[in-house]
This record gives sequence, structure tokens and C-alpha cells, in this order.
Amino acid sequence: MSGLLLIAAAWLATDDAQPISYHRQVQPLLTARCAGCHQPAKAGGKVVLVSHATLSAGGKDGEPLVVAGKPEESALLAALLPRGDKPPKMPKKGEALPETEIALLREWIVQGAVDDTPAAAAAQFSADHPPLYAQLPVVTSLDFAPSGDLLAVSGYHEVLLWQIDPAGTGATLAARLIGMSERIQSLAFSPDGTRLLVVGGSPGRFGEVQLWDVAKRALERSLLLGGDTLYGGAWSPDGSRVAFCGGDVSVRALDTTSGELVFFNAASEDLALDTAFSKDGAHLVSVGRDRALKLFEMATQQFVDNITSITPGALKGGLQAVDRQPGEDVLLIGGADGQPKTYKMFRTQKREIGDDYNHVKSYAPLAGRIFSCEYSPDGARFVAGASQHGKGEVRLYAVADEAPKWSLPIAGAIYAATFRGDGSRVAAAGFDGHVYVIDAASGALTGRFAAAPIEPPVHEGTP
Ligand code: HEC
Repeated sequence: MSGLLLIAAAWLATDDAQPISYHRQVQPLLTARCAGCHQPAKAGGKVVLVSHATLSAGGKDGEPLVVAGKPEESALLAALLPRGDKPPKMPKKGEALPETEIALLREWIVQGAVDDTPAAAAAQFSADHPPLYAQLPVVTSLDFAPSGDLLAVSGYHEVLLWQIDPAGTGATLAARLIGMSERIQSLAFSPDGTRLLVVGGSPGRFGEVQLWDVAKRALERSLLLGGDTLYGGAWSPDGSRVAFCGGDVSVRALDTTSGELVFFNAASEDLALDTAFSKDGAHLVSVGRDRALKLFEMATQQFVDNITSITPGALKGGLQAVDRQPGEDVLLIGGADGQPKTYKMFRTQKREIGDDYNHVKSYAPLAGRIFSCEYSPDGARFVAGASQHGKGEVRLYAVADEAPKWSLPIAGAIYAATFRGDGSRVAAAGFDGHVYVIDAASGALTGRFAAAPIEPPVHEGTP
């Protein structure tokens, strides 16, 4: 062999011997391609592929999935390869993995299937290992079931379902819906209340859309997208679609029966944060940091219109929240300027540059930034939650009046506010990890409780 060839061979050998990182290469691949169906809350074939520990635990009856150094004896790999003229078994119903990804898994097994996960990243939660709270979680989202007193509250790695007592003074923990996503950004019950949409992810690692069967407390579907946390989930009125923001400029929607992505548009100029459907479900809107309220058509996935004026200076700061008035195609928006505003969804005259034709009404501004706004179920009132310099405020407005009906200051920032299904109460929460239950007619605080179980229990019952 010539010297040159020897050098090339040595170089190739060292290149091949590049250690594969489980934490940085293998697990992200399994998370993106497999974990939607192989996670603690939804373990296809009893296989859980969310960590080295769960992978090592094996499949059905503990049958090993990976045999260190022996790719041909590793069931994980076998499942990804064609069997004669039959396609690979996994990913089930999905496209086969590209050869480069299979080669990566094989090489990692050849190298000894080593786990290099840092201890801090290794924690995995499941119904058997629920998250423990040393302090209360920041609550980013809340939603009341359409009927009854069940309130979904975002926690760490989970959604807590609280049964609010009839007097609104306290609450009992009814269920913990523990999933893969560390952060929950958005929660919404389906219009018929049978399912719960959960949108979130783990920062810098993945985004996730979860659909839970509320009665069974079971994860029905998990869609994992690489990258970052997702935001701003909404149901179409018939429950057939859910929309969400892709953790970037994109807005997407999922068919809730097939699990297929049916809508994608990346027309925003900055992070998209919230979505809402039109009355008939044929259109979708989004708001985000680019200050725009954008209208899209579901069927064509096309951008249709900027509903708000796009004249520079017409809107100050980004928009955070949008909700559609029940029974109407009117949108309520809130954001950095603290002023709730309403807009007609559809233009009835041609746009002229700089017009704000669709604007319906502006309301008295809150002191800080609006993080959440929601109509009452009958569409006659709305609630807004805000924060300024770490102090919170919850306000209720009648749609007809510019001034609020009531305002309730809260010690900590408010990130979420929602109406009970019958409109009789408002629940609000945020930075301090407490849920505030408020009488919607008077604005009186009826109760306050800790959003998550913490030892020793803090502040239960009437304040
Ligand atoms: C759409 C859901 C889905 C996806 C995605 C998926 N699986 Fe599966 N997987 C299942 C189900 C369900 C089973 C149980 C056996 C069956 O129904 O075929 C299973 C079984 C398995 C088994 C057990 C052995 C066997 O052959 O039955 C392995 C190993 C496995 N999957 C690996 C993977 C890997 C690796 C990925 C990602 C590349 C993946 N799966 C993606 C649903 C899925």
C-alpha cells in the first residue's frame, strides 16, 4: 500500500471512530421519529424511547431492544430495516428512516451503546414518577371544560386537572396528565369537552402537540416537531382541526382524526404566538411578535389579509393573544400595548394602504402587557390578564363598554385567564403559581389555591 493510501485509510478510520453521542444525536432522532408513539403515556408495543434508561428497559417482557456491540441482535435496528420484500415495521404508518439515520443508530450500537446523558437531563416523568414541586410552577395557560367545574392548569411536564368546588373557594386535584413536554404553553378543551389540546415542548429540543382523551385521562396523540416549544393552540368549531404556532414564524394545523398536518404557512415576520378559527372553520388567524393579525384560508393554506392596519406605528409592540367572539367573526386581540381591541375578521371593502377598516372598538388599556384575553361563552363579555413590572391585573369588560366592569390587582404577573363554561366565574393564574377564582359578576375573589401539589401545602381555601 502506498503511503498516500495508508494516510487516507488512517484518516477514514479515525473519522469512523468519531464517538456517536447518545444525548446529542441518538435521543433527538428517537424523539423526533419514534417518541410520539413510544413514550410513557403512550407506549406502542410496551416500547418507550424517551431516554437511555427506558430504551435499556427493553420491549414486551423486557426483551432487549439494543445489544451493545451487536447491531444484528438489536431489535431496535431490526424494526427499521426491510424484511425481505416487506417494508420496515417501524416507524409504523410512517416513512422509513433514511439510511444515514439508520447508520447512525447502528454505529452507536457498534460503539457499545454508551449513555452520555448529563444527569440533569436524564429525569423522565410518567404517571409512576410524577414531577415533584419544590416551588409552585409558573402557570402559562388555563382552560375550563365547557361544562362543569373541571379546570385544566399548566404545570411542569404535565397538565393538572382541578375540580373546583361549587362555591369556588377551593379545589381538588382530579388528574395529572403527565407528558414529554417540559413546558406547556397553551391548553384548550375541544368544543364538546371530550378532548384536551396541549401545546408546548422542551426549549431548544422539541415542540409537541398532545391530544388527551379527557374521560380516560389518556394520551390519544402526540405530534413531535424538532426545534423549539410550540404556542397558541386553538380548536376549529367542529373539533376536526387544531391550529398552533410552530415555535417560529409558522402557523400549522392538524387533522385531529388522522393526525396529519393539514395546514402550514410561514407568512409572519416574527414568532407567531396565538391562533383562532373562523366561525365556519374555513379560515384561521394568527397573532405574534410582528404585531400583525394575519388571516389565512384553510383549504389553500394561503395568506389572505393583514386584518389590522400595517401602517408603521399603528400597533405598538407585539401581539400575544387572540380570541374569536362566540357566534361572530369578530376577533379580540391583546399584546404589548395593553389595549384590548376588536376587529372584523373579513374585509367588506378593498384595502387602501394604511387603512384600519376592520377595526371595531378599542377598550381602556390595562397598565401592562396583555398575555391572555378570552370571550365569555355567550360572547357578551371578555376577560384580560396582564402584567407590568411583575405585578398582575385581571379585568372584565362588557363588549359594549370601553371601560372595564371590574379590575382585580394580583401580586404576581397574570399569564392566563379563562371563563367557566356558564360564564359565572373567571379563573386566572401566572407567575406566583396560584389559581385565583373570581366571581364574574362582581369581580370578588372567591378562592385561591396552589396550581400544583407541593409539600407542605400552601394557601388552600379562602384568601
Ligand atoms: C405511529 C406510531 C409509531 C411510530 C411513529 C413508531 N412506532 Fe414502533 N411501534 C408502534 C406500535 C403500535 C408497536 C406495537 C407493535 C405493532 O403494533 O406493530 C410498535 C412496536 C415497536 C417495537 C417492538 C418490536 C416490534 O417490531 O414490534 C420496536 C422495536 C419499535 N416499535 C421501534 C420503533 C422505532 C425505533 C421507531 C422510530 C424510528 C418507531 N418504533 C416509531 C407504533 C409506532
